[in-house]
Amino acid sequence: MGEMEDLCVSECTRCPALVDSRSQIVNGTGPEDADILFVGEGPGAQEDSQGEPFVGRSGSVLDDQLRIVGLDRDTVRITNCVRCRPPENRDPTADELENCRGYLEQEIELLDPDVIVTLGKVPTEHLLDRDVAVTKEAGSVEDVRINGTPRRLLICVHPAATLYDRSQEETFASALERAAELAGVDGSENASGQTRLDGF
Ligand code: URA
Repeated sequence: MGEMEDLCVSECTRCPALVDSRSQIVNGTGPEDADILFVGEGPGAQEDSQGEPFVGRSGSVLDDQLRIVGLDRDTVRITNCVRCRPPENRDPTADELENCRGYLEQEIELLDPDVIVTLGKVPTEHLLDRDVAVTKEAGSVEDVRINGTPRRLLICVHPAATLYDRSQEETFASALERAAELAGVDGSENASGQTRLDGF
């Protein structure tokens, strides 16, 4: 089995409520050697129907901001804490998060990213294993052991937060800039291939 297959779950019935509510398992997307791993909460309606994480409104916010900081969706990996859509978009329960944890840990281990960016409260608290006031702590970097290996984690607000509260846009943007910096990605080239001429 190739590494890409190891990053994907094709069958799972650990969470009875999610087996009922999902139409498919939504695995992470992006290269298996990506430097940056974004971790969201769980699939919503769009993700459940298309089988890809962050393809709805939050996904457009994420894509736009990635482009602005010189990153491209195709060069980063994007995944979720749980791979099946919870009913009515409720938060995943503690049991559901735990049931899916092994898949996330395996994805992190195989990818071995320079930085893990947690999008919102659920993934941040899940991976840091503590209460987090995400809007206050967004942009801060913490070292955390995941499955025994030290990892660098950058706290970020969920892209949807910028849709409800415009003041979060700046917080979101600077966190993504920091992620690009930490991964050593040159953000001076934007997605159109044009070098940004700051100050001109
Ligand atoms: N929100 C998430 O946390 N994950 C998705 O995949 C989509 C929206």
